[in-house]
Amino acid sequence: MTFQTLDDLEDGQRVLVRLDLNSPVEDGEVQDNRRFERHAETIRELVDRDFAVAVLAHQGRPGGDDFVSLEQHAAILADHVGHDVDFVADTYGEEALAAVDALEAGDVLVLENTRMCEDELPEEDPEVKAETEFVQTLAPNFDAYINDAYSAAHRSHASLVGFPLVLPAYAGRVMQTEYEANTAIAEREFDGQVTMVVGGTKATDVIDVMTHLGETVDDFLLGGVAGQLFLRAEGYPVGYDVGDTDLYDEQYEANEDKIEQMLEERGDQITLAVDMAYEGEDGP
Ligand code: 3PG
Repeated sequence: MTFQTLDDLEDGQRVLVRLDLNSPVEDGEVQDNRRFERHAETIRELVDRDFAVAVLAHQGRPGGDDFVSLEQHAAILADHVGHDVDFVADTYGEEALAAVDALEAGDVLVLENTRMCEDELPEEDPEVKAETEFVQTLAPNFDAYINDAYSAAHRSHASLVGFPLVLPAYAGRVMQTEYEANTAIAEREFDGQVTMVVGGTKATDVIDVMTHLGETVDDFLLGGVAGQLFLRAEGYPVGYDVGDTDLYDEQYEANEDKIEQMLEERGDQITLAVDMAYEGEDGP
């Protein structure tokens, strides 16, 4: 283990915790999902150990339909933790700082969507992010920073890479578990085959992961958008945008060469769908 965990942290401190609560949003309603359940374990431990907790997280990307406030996330998190979770519609302004100041042992407060702050995006070096007003204003109110956002850790955003340079930094339980599981795979700390099931909508990200893990994974089972893009590369009439969606064509163009190279060099490791079903307006 190359980082410190909650086991290295003394109880009862004031901590700033980065979670990944980014969730599907349907008609403005945030959908509950496994991310809440998993992060709730970290938060529950912090509450039980008398920490005063402020949570940073993002939702969506500016301009997207799912770029919404974290107010609903706070309520869903509260249900999973089984403990009050407050929300303030501000990230590091006066209102946020007053709410942080009022935190007592065992309190949990969710701050507003980090991507609503100019300093959060775009991706820049950690040293640059550490100097932002966002980090410089918020950090002095805490004893430590805890990163539990494993699934967002590949982004060089202020809330992820800026704070560890100015506060003692620790991994939360989700970060620790994911890191250990992925290291075990990357270093093949066991006998037997490794099969990776790949899905989701972020084809560009997963194709990069496949390229990176090529040597350590024996077989890939491909579904989701990436699966359809591979089928498209093989000449099947799927993986194209229909109507006003922009999931496929752009990602295909950006990854066409990589996909073709992967199919040529490692095609026998890759299993694609042999049949599909889709849900239209009138059902499946
Ligand atoms: C995710 O949901 O995959 C992470 O939160 C990262 O989100 P992003 O791709 O918008 O940076």
